[in-house]
Amino acid sequence: MASVFKLKLSSCSIGSLYLVLILLALTGCTKSDQAVAKPEPSAIGELIFHDVSLSASGKQSCATCHAPAFAHAQPNGLPVQPGGARMDQRGTRTVPSLRYMAGTPAFSYDDEGTPSGGFNHDGSAETLAIQAERPLLAANEMANLTRTAVIQKLRNAAYAPQFRQVFGQHSLDDVDAAFDKLGFALQQYQLLSSVFAPFDSKYDAYLAGTIKLSAAEARGLTLFNEEKKGNCAACHPSAKSADGKPPVFTDFTYDSLGLPRNMAIPANANPAYVDLGLCKSGRAGRSSEASECGKFKVPTLRNVATRQVFFHNGQFKSLREAVAFYVRRDTHPEEWYPHLASGKVDKFNDLPRQYHANVNIEEAPYGLKRGQQPALSDKEIDDLVSFLETLTDGYKSDK
Ligand code: HEC
Ligand code: HEC
Repeated sequence: MASVFKLKLSSCSIGSLYLVLILLALTGCTKSDQAVAKPEPSAIGELIFHDVSLSASGKQSCATCHAPAFAHAQPNGLPVQPGGARMDQRGTRTVPSLRYMAGTPAFSYDDEGTPSGGFNHDGSAETLAIQAERPLLAANEMANLTRTAVIQKLRNAAYAPQFRQVFGQHSLDDVDAAFDKLGFALQQYQLLSSVFAPFDSKYDAYLAGTIKLSAAEARGLTLFNEEKKGNCAACHPSAKSADGKPPVFTDFTYDSLGLPRNMAIPANANPAYVDLGLCKSGRAGRSSEASECGKFKVPTLRNVATRQVFFHNGQFKSLREAVAFYVRRDTHPEEWYPHLASGKVDKFNDLPRQYHANVNIEEAPYGLKRGQQPALSDKEIDDLVSFLETLTDGYKSDK
């Protein structure tokens, strides 16, 4: 084989010399073309996303908390991340993955009164461009005191000339106008760059018909979909859409899971502090009503196996524990919640009592009574976890 290849090479070596020369000339041309071509807003967004100089500490960028190697979510098992000018402040929620957000609709209520869409665990941000303001200004994140402080840093960035090239020579002069462009650049990066939506998990290969799932993974998929078993697909759809788009494992709706309170969140040391989710998202009208308290957005389950903490409050530290919570919350509440002095289990203890009625207790795998057989056995929980592990991007088949 090798000698045939060599022969072939030498027989056309003179031709290839010319080819190389032509190619060199061509690359020369494209290079000079590139020098004059305007970079895309998303390319500027990528530079901003990774720029630690935009934080008050000089140590934190978007990518610090949304680490590319961890599906653009937090790279650690902390319930809440450090931030602030001296990196000694703490947030109140876990860091969601930024993958597969392109299809997220604007926040709205449907005819049946189901909320969906928007960004953040509570849907507080209307668009990705608007969302970017919080981390840049929040005292416990990148901690700039004002928009002006952010834009001053941007003016000093090495890529400021490219920013001006894309958005106009005077685009950094006016603070508010510049801030809008910064948000737009970040949005375009998150929406358009393929790093946020590679669709190359084992499950994608399975959907494309190029590989088979293992027996445990296939059993897990069935349990995930079955309405009387996991019923997970009711909120985390697993099938291709009608127009053939691969599933992103969220219907973008909101639900209240009645999670246990996580005492490892510093804010929770204050018994008066509660994270009520949607009803405190700052939206006027229906979202602010008591019926919406305790609801959080359904996240994608793609890459969920790369996480080290789960749900908005990071109470659970393993995927198996997170899945077992769904299955055993109602049948074995004593496994998840502390006991009151009276000996009673303090169920849904991260929510004031008046909001307990908002917790979903009807849909499977909920809806069973204490002491009843859970909807899934321990082995079935393992199978479900095996399936969820097929949702990690960057799958390489052994073939
Ligand atoms: C200190 C850690 C930290 C930094 C730095 C940070 N984020 Fe986040 N990010 C979070 C947390 C925590 C949330 C959840 C916030 C919430 O629900 O209130 C979040 C939520 C988001 C969301 C919403 C995702 C969804 O599923 O709805 C987007 C988008 C986002 N961040 C983008 C960014 C961008 C862009 C930057 C840089 C300008 C950034 N983040 C910097 C911690 C961080
Ligand atoms: C009725 C809707 C609903 C159903 C059914 C449902 N989920 Fe969820 N899921 C949610 C919501 C809402 C959240 C976010 C809750 C929060 O953070 O407070 C979530 C979060 C998760 C998370 C944490 C992801 C992360 O990024 O931290 C996992 C894991 C998960 N679900 C797995 C499952 C599995 C497995 C099933 C089936 C046994 C299931 N879900 C069924 C609504 C649902």
